[in-house]
Amino acid sequence: LQALADRVRPGFTIGAAVALGPLASDADYAREFFGDFGGITPENAMKPQFLSPQRDVYTFEEADAILDRAESRGMAVHGHTIAFTEAMPQWMQELPTGSGEERRASADALLDYVTTVVTHFKGRLASLDVVNEPFDVDQGTSLQENIWYRTFGPGYPAIVSRAVHDADPDVRQFINENGADVPGDRQDALLELARDTNARGGHIYGVGLQSHVYDLRTDAISTEDLTDTLHLFEQAGLHVRISENDVTDDRGTDAQAQQYAAVLATCLRSRTCVSYTTWGVDDRYDWWIDDDGGLQQGHDFLFDEGHPTPAHAAMARAL
Ligand code: XIL
Repeated sequence: LQALADRVRPGFTIGAAVALGPLASDADYAREFFGDFGGITPENAMKPQFLSPQRDVYTFEEADAILDRAESRGMAVHGHTIAFTEAMPQWMQELPTGSGEERRASADALLDYVTTVVTHFKGRLASLDVVNEPFDVDQGTSLQENIWYRTFGPGYPAIVSRAVHDADPDVRQFINENGADVPGDRQDALLELARDTNARGGHIYGVGLQSHVYDLRTDAISTEDLTDTLHLFEQAGLHVRISENDVTDDRGTDAQAQQYAAVLATCLRSRTCVSYTTWGVDDRYDWWIDDDGGLQQGHDFLFDEGHPTPAHAAMARAL
């Protein structure tokens, strides 16, 4: 897919989220990933809970091992993620914020985390999610009141963004969210947050639209809606990454393949949309099954047990 994209739009990255385990041990997975994609997002390895399981303890080995493999093949690395409510270690969640003095000490600890991590990866990341899933779950439009919020207040994304910029001024910063890939309140809130963050001295280059399609009957992303979305962010001077696209389906129809192809093609044809990433490689490792206890079909990705799926073929045709 990356080779096809290079012919129509040089510089555009098609990436996937990956884990070190299968990359190191499963030859099919490694061949599919390295053979097809030009970009990489570590699926979990750069989340705070894995990078700093205890205060002042950093475990960079797994992320470094993924980056080594990607870099030796010239792939663009997207870092995921700094401030993310769902993936914080316990020590971070429990930082005290009761008194002003406590808040100042917690602010130092959080900013120390940001500086340590971004300095460690400096020069290796093309882009980075500085805030992931800022809004309340289930389509909310208010900021989640996590430790970042309790410590720094509603302007916390700008504080994180400035600390990231101080440590690595070249990394392109994104705010990443789900459910904001079609027009609506959640999308407006994401646009407003990105603008507000930059108005407060932040360095947000764009937004990540996760584009998980859980159910094609209820949350398919139409070409028209995505085109309107890209225009909206473009007018605000912001870029867009399709950051985590995956489409669950039983493959009884070709709707899944059409959806994958439409999202990729619409992104590729917009200058605002700088890259496309799918949130997995092979159905053999299906995060939906892990997360939802097997409720999903398990036919979600572009490869199935070592073979390209109809969705992969449709994407190739769309390029
Ligand atoms: C998911 C991973 O894919 C799973 O392996 C993990 O168990 C939970 O997190 N939105 C995000 C990603 O921003 O970080 C999530 O990744 C998927 C939803």
